[in-house]
Amino acid sequence: MGHTSIHYLFFNKITSMVQFCKLVIFISSALSSYGRLNPNKFPDDFLFGIASASYQIEGAWNLSGKGENIWDRYTHTHPELILNRTNGDIACNSYHRYEEDVALIKKLGVQFYRFSLSWTRILPIGFSSKINPDGIRYYNNLINLLMKNDIIPIITIFHWDTPQHLEELGGFTNALMANWFEDYARVVFENFGDRVKVWITFNEPKEICLKGYGGDEKAPGYNLSGTADYICAHNLMKAHARAYHLYDKQFRSKQNGQISIVMDTFWMEPATNLTWDKKAAERRLAFIFGWYAHPVYSSNGDYPDVMKKYVARRSKREGFKRSRLPNFTKEEVNYIKGTYDFLGLNHYSTVLTKNVLFEPIFGKPSVEKDSMTVTEYDPSWPNSKASWLKVVPWGFTKLLVWLKNAYGNVPIYITENGFADDGEIDDKDRINYHKLYLSALLDAMHKYKVNVKAYTIWSFMDDFEWRDGYMTRFGLYHVDFNDPGRNRTPKASAEYYRKVIAARKIDGID
Ligand SMILES: *[C@@H]1O[C@H](CO)[C@@H](O)[C@H](O)[C@H]1NC(C)=O
Ligand SMILES: *[C@@H]1O[C@H](CO)[C@@H](O)[C@H](O)[C@H]1NC(C)=O
Ligand SMILES: *[C@@H]1O[C@H](CO)[C@@H](O)[C@H](O)[C@H]1NC(C)=O
Ligand SMILES: *[C@@H]1O[C@H](CO)[C@@H](O)[C@H](O)[C@H]1NC(C)=O
Ligand SMILES: *[C@@H]1O[C@H](CO)[C@@H](O)[C@H](O)[C@H]1NC(C)=O
Repeated sequence: MGHTSIHYLFFNKITSMVQFCKLVIFISSALSSYGRLNPNKFPDDFLFGIASASYQIEGAWNLSGKGENIWDRYTHTHPELILNRTNGDIACNSYHRYEEDVALIKKLGVQFYRFSLSWTRILPIGFSSKINPDGIRYYNNLINLLMKNDIIPIITIFHWDTPQHLEELGGFTNALMANWFEDYARVVFENFGDRVKVWITFNEPKEICLKGYGGDEKAPGYNLSGTADYICAHNLMKAHARAYHLYDKQFRSKQNGQISIVMDTFWMEPATNLTWDKKAAERRLAFIFGWYAHPVYSSNGDYPDVMKKYVARRSKREGFKRSRLPNFTKEEVNYIKGTYDFLGLNHYSTVLTKNVLFEPIFGKPSVEKDSMTVTEYDPSWPNSKASWLKVVPWGFTKLLVWLKNAYGNVPIYITENGFADDGEIDDKDRINYHKLYLSALLDAMHKYKVNVKAYTIWSFMDDFEWRDGYMTRFGLYHVDFNDPGRNRTPKASAEYYRKVIAARKIDGID
């Protein structure tokens, strides 16, 4: 024994001391992060709401004149791509249960409900040549019932469910999509714009273009990375601007509403303090968020310079005659620039970003390769049921401050923020997530004077979460998908959100 044993004991003691200190630090930081909940209130004109999307909740996929969309086609022809081979044929059956749904929304005390229109429920083949009266009637009933209950309808015109007929014409790879979208937008402004005062053209173009055209993870699943994604975004931004200008010129004076786009992003935290990783984090934000935000919100318009430079350079090395990132003409830049009344942000989590020093010219091109960045997670960040969703509330504050610095004092509406679990009724982890993220939001508003006007929880109720089927749950209401009636049950988080909204603060309400 002798020496070794003394050394052993000594080191053992140090190790356990270190562990003890770590435990003390953990407990005190947990306590102080609880104690540090921002004590401020949300201003009186701040709005709270909840969100959903047509394909994820409505069901009635082939009833009352609705036409087929790309998610109907994708789930029916490739059931193997969806967890448990499920689909949105019935979903929450909200098409038939919307009256009960409005009553449940009312109970939360929210000021608004953000939902989306199913394009093919209104225009079965996508073109405005044939309008489905049952589709118009359904949304009229829903809007009227919301208004009767003092709930503001906020409408997303497009939340991923492209008409199948238009997809067969190329979907967002066809530049004519801007015409078709404008025609559809005109129908919805004409029919609902007397009552609807907040419009969102597109939900999350990044997911549509990067995953649906660049990848195979979302419908239509082109899987043509580095080309179809850039073309999709190019046409989508033009379609957004067309709907904005249509509203601005022909509807705004009578209807007095607002119209903008909703974009999603993680906060990109540099993985180290090395300059190249800090630059990589900025560059990744430019590629993933600036790609859509810069043409609309920056004073120069157009794609971010760093993105144009990196894609052009790599395209050339790959042997392309021109950049895979299409060019906007000067007229197009000016046409798209400033097409907003607010900035809609969907935010859930944060990633660590690292610089890539050398990216060999090999295999398929991709947006990520073009960006010369990669991401990873800090293993200490708390998890959710979704592998991409870690609980990192300070990233929310940093992103909001970054937005203010990048795009000025634009009013920001948080149009989605939420937590994924298995569907527990006593959903303590969801309550904790919202407590921390709302505190981070108050920090941004009070300490850094970021102009945030609204906050939305995703989601109103458990729903069809795309490739995750019904296994990943975000709802404030639990839905029993084994029950033909799709019975809804409030979770603990529904009561928590009700209290937050009533008190207009998070500190000291439970
Ligand atoms: C609608 O789709 C369901 C499957 O979800 C099918 O059983 C039913 O026959 C279809 N109804 C019509 C009217 O096509
Ligand atoms: C759905 O899929 C998950 C993961 O593969 C599995 O654990 C679960 O049992 C399945 N549920 C049903 C109802 O088949
Ligand atoms: C998409 O492309 C990747 C390779 O880039 C391939 O591994 C994957 O199987 C493709 N997906 C489909 C559905 O073909
Ligand atoms: C970077 O530096 C700051 C300030 O010194 C420090 O708080 C932070 O932990 C550092 N980050 C990393 C990833 O090392
Ligand atoms: C875009 O325009 C620049 C000059 O304005 C030109 O050098 C480049 O080749 C153009 N790229 C494409 C894809 O047309």
